[in-house]
Amino acid sequence: MLEDRVYPPHPDFVARANVSGMEAYQALYRRSIETPEEFWGELAEKELAWFEKWSHVFEWHPPFVKWFVGGKINASYNCLDRHLATHRADKVAFYWEGEPGDERRITYRELHAMVSRFANVLKARGFTSADRAIIYMPMIPELPVAMLACARLGIMHSVVFGGFSAEALKTRIQDLDARLVITADGGWRRAREVRLKDAADEALKDCPGVREVIVCRRTGSSVNMQPGRDSWWHELEEGVSADCPALPLDAEHPLFALYTSGTTGKPKGILHTTGGYLLGATMTMKWVFDLKDEDVYWCAADIGWVTGHSYIVYGPLSAGATSVLYEGAPDTPAWDRWWRIVSKYRVNILYTSPTAIRALIRQGEEWPNRHDLSSLRLLGSVGEPINPAAWEWYYRVIGKERCPIVDTWWQTETGSILIAPMPGATPLKPGSATFPLPGVVPEVVDFTGRPVEAGKEGYLVIRRPWPSMMRTIWGDPKRYEEQYWSRVPGSYFTGDAARRDVDGYFWILGRVDDVMNVSGHRLSTMEVESALVKHPAVAEAAVVGRPDEITGQAVCAFVTLKQGTWDHDHLADELREFVAREIGKFARPAEIRFAEALPKTRSGKIMRRLLREIVTTHTVTGDVTTLEDFTVVTRLAAEED
Ligand code: WTA
Repeated sequence: MLEDRVYPPHPDFVARANVSGMEAYQALYRRSIETPEEFWGELAEKELAWFEKWSHVFEWHPPFVKWFVGGKINASYNCLDRHLATHRADKVAFYWEGEPGDERRITYRELHAMVSRFANVLKARGFTSADRAIIYMPMIPELPVAMLACARLGIMHSVVFGGFSAEALKTRIQDLDARLVITADGGWRRAREVRLKDAADEALKDCPGVREVIVCRRTGSSVNMQPGRDSWWHELEEGVSADCPALPLDAEHPLFALYTSGTTGKPKGILHTTGGYLLGATMTMKWVFDLKDEDVYWCAADIGWVTGHSYIVYGPLSAGATSVLYEGAPDTPAWDRWWRIVSKYRVNILYTSPTAIRALIRQGEEWPNRHDLSSLRLLGSVGEPINPAAWEWYYRVIGKERCPIVDTWWQTETGSILIAPMPGATPLKPGSATFPLPGVVPEVVDFTGRPVEAGKEGYLVIRRPWPSMMRTIWGDPKRYEEQYWSRVPGSYFTGDAARRDVDGYFWILGRVDDVMNVSGHRLSTMEVESALVKHPAVAEAAVVGRPDEITGQAVCAFVTLKQGTWDHDHLADELREFVAREIGKFARPAEIRFAEALPKTRSGKIMRRLLREIVTTHTVTGDVTTLEDFTVVTRLAAEED
């Protein structure tokens, strides 16, 4: 009954917190709901630097919203320039550590110079606020530099996670119609080089629209450079000035599009704009992470996912934080790498995912126990529901029962955290993301949109627009409208199931659509299916998420084969690799089951619900490699249709 335990914040924490006590939180929340224009207007004025003030705080023409209408702002300016006139000028922005152990320490002043110089390079190459850039890089300081240099000139960026394959990169470059690609020779992961430039070359074969490729040197290994298209970052920067004023941009100017998996095979570019997004990222740093000027903060996510955008780059830098940036894997060279980093940099705030926590639990307490973790004061979790047992371990073994845990619920689409504790206010319940942040009105509803009773399961919707909300799907406003705003008319449909308990706490239960969550990475069942059916042996494929002790969900693929004789063992391996090549290694199915037929409705729709049941309850048992006869199941399915 771990779920019934309540952990009130420690009085010392409350005394020093940015938001102290439940009453302070409630007052803030109430104000945000009763007078949203005043509430957000005041915060925007106080917390961000504007070139020109807005005329309206927001304009809501459902499902399209604009925030700080008419205001002029620049995200790069807010993350850099404005700190230079303060005590933060020589404060460390990033303590960077490469996987092999190399180190760099970069102050705000230095980061500002790096960004400005690279922005001048982009400007000199003719890129403007009408352009879009794809960024495909390892976790090195040049990644945030590239993002901020784009933001400085209003070039919309789309970062593609370095774990994505050439094929996945290609579809993103094409969908965005980008003219510029910024990449690196490679990066280090588990002591091996991830050869990014090679993958980019492969992708670029089918991307004739790309005019320029800028390559940052990280690993020093040899890469192919195509004359007239590819240039080295360091060569372009030679003799370039570090003075490049940030461009005043409309508050609604696109900042980035980040591709994420939806319910179809085609990933969607979630579009975020400048002013509202930045306000959401900045405020949540202060509210949820209780950020203080002297803190050393570490978000261990990858910048290629939204968590890294909002909580490694834009949020922390806008709030003037000192962050740790680490390139590699938690187990390299050994499973105490993270704890070495925590003790070396005296990290105060650590933000990671339940998958990472469960992987660490498996390795045993001796790894963290070898290191001094006394600097930690706050822990965070994101990406998937955290099971109470993992929560308790994180609390006890890492936080030594001193550190509150903020379980933060949000999505690529929401831009910043929407449901989470305020650590100096909220009594915690392990496994619950607790309460909505200011301005956020979530509700648990049934399929007609009516609120369900306390304790009952339903769909999580958000009733009102918030500043960091996605604006549209890149190039597909219709899909935006249909996917997010038509299921429950007038409300934002999250795709998650949730329950609100009698005390008003939100418990997020997971996706209700065909989206899987593998190691906190979003993946659509259709995306994996489309990859599988490209293989010449595959006739049909149906993919479902199967519960997994470590990764939350694991990819399980049911496959029917074309006529012929196949060596199943060999083919299963081949198909796994095939998916890795099509999407990325993280999408590789944990299990491939060969079947005679797939259960379908009479209209021919694959019944994933049934397959989910099979993989969770093992109603139909069988070896991974045995042929399963679905005739019975198929008949059942047909009857249900
Ligand atoms: C899930 C990641 C439970 C959820 C920031 C959501 C969570 C999806 C939590 C978004 C949490 C994220 N508790 N579930 N604290 N945080 N999720 O877009 O299913 O990669 O819809 O954004 O992750 O994943 P995304």
